[in-house]
Amino acid sequence: MVKTTVSIIKADIGSVAGHAVVAKPLFDIANKKLEDAKQNGIINSYYVFNAGDDLELLMTHNRGENNAEIHKLAWDTFMDGAKKAKNLKLYGAGQDLLLDAFSGNVKGLGPGVAEMEFQERGSDPVVIFAADKTEPSAFNYLLYRIFADPSNTAGLVIDPKMSGGFKFEVFDAYENRSVILETPSELYSLLALIGATSRYMVSKVWRSSDNEIVSTSSTTKLSLIAGSYVGKDDPVCIVRGQSGFPSVGEIIAPFQHTYLVSGWMRGSHWGPFMPVGLKDSICTVFDGPPRIVALGIQVSNGKIASDDDGNPLIVDFFKDVAFDGARKEAIEMSQFLRRMGEFEPARLGPEAMEYTTLPNVLNQLEPRFKKHE
Ligand code: 13P
Ligand code: 13P
Ligand code: MG
Ligand code: MG
Repeated sequence: MVKTTVSIIKADIGSVAGHAVVAKPLFDIANKKLEDAKQNGIINSYYVFNAGDDLELLMTHNRGENNAEIHKLAWDTFMDGAKKAKNLKLYGAGQDLLLDAFSGNVKGLGPGVAEMEFQERGSDPVVIFAADKTEPSAFNYLLYRIFADPSNTAGLVIDPKMSGGFKFEVFDAYENRSVILETPSELYSLLALIGATSRYMVSKVWRSSDNEIVSTSSTTKLSLIAGSYVGKDDPVCIVRGQSGFPSVGEIIAPFQHTYLVSGWMRGSHWGPFMPVGLKDSICTVFDGPPRIVALGIQVSNGKIASDDDGNPLIVDFFKDVAFDGARKEAIEMSQFLRRMGEFEPARLGPEAMEYTTLPNVLNQLEPRFKKHE
């Protein structure tokens, strides 16, 4: 049986105004490009949306992960969009297209990618997470709650198909290497790593009993590609749900509360992660607070299940009132943190600030320091 691939490829290619939101002309370009690709049989279905100023291309196809045609489609779409953004003098036009050296894969060039190939089951609910003003390790806590915390995921306790637990692949962004840890047996070791969000990020999760893939996330770290701060990585993540995987309700339940992630203004501050519906997927105060959307789809015969007119059926989970409490918490926490101004821990620690413009300021002061006797 032919397998189905879900790919989400994203980039910030320019925004209105500052770093707030993707402009309509860029959506139009992306929709047209992907519609053409669908007509030409390159992809089976697609949905274009935004996480703040990041343009998100969600596609299904049968070409597998890291496919050159799919990556070229995304790259060409971003290049066309960036050209338009430059003509309009949008802010940060072409921001995430760091290296113009496409040779079959967008990884390492700036865009973020999460892809997953699987054999469709009787029914395949999938949740797509996309965030703005933060980094891939912002999903560490989320993925721990979904796949390893029985106080979030009742299925870990109640569903025998999950009692063998899940395996996490943890990527070490500094050393470009990874390690696989099994839960629940290695839970404490897992937390020892993924609690260090400046360095480690969860890249994949499988069900231990049969090695079935259940989650995959983008792992781009733009500052490590560029060597300096050029905007945040603004990650994406795909999670499969139900029938032996965590249920969709369990997958989104961690966002009953906010938690702190690194990013926000100039990628230099801790901020509360705020779940929002697509209509609120726009970054405002202090370029944030960092936001996340969660879209539910059914993957069906190689496509996103759609209505009779071919419109994909999308559920915009976080627009629901059930997440109002988390938003209220996030707003209160934003006010609390911003009242602290540029004092740590509201501002990131010195190691993370190395990649920002702060060292230039400190260097200017260097000659004025006098040794204490
Ligand atoms: P500039 O105003 O120099 O672009 O930098 C601020 C900013 O947008 C940080 O991302
Ligand atoms: P983005 O990474 O979303 O472009 O944000 C850049 C930034 O520094 C906002 O202050
Ligand atoms: Mg931007
Ligand atoms: Mg962004």
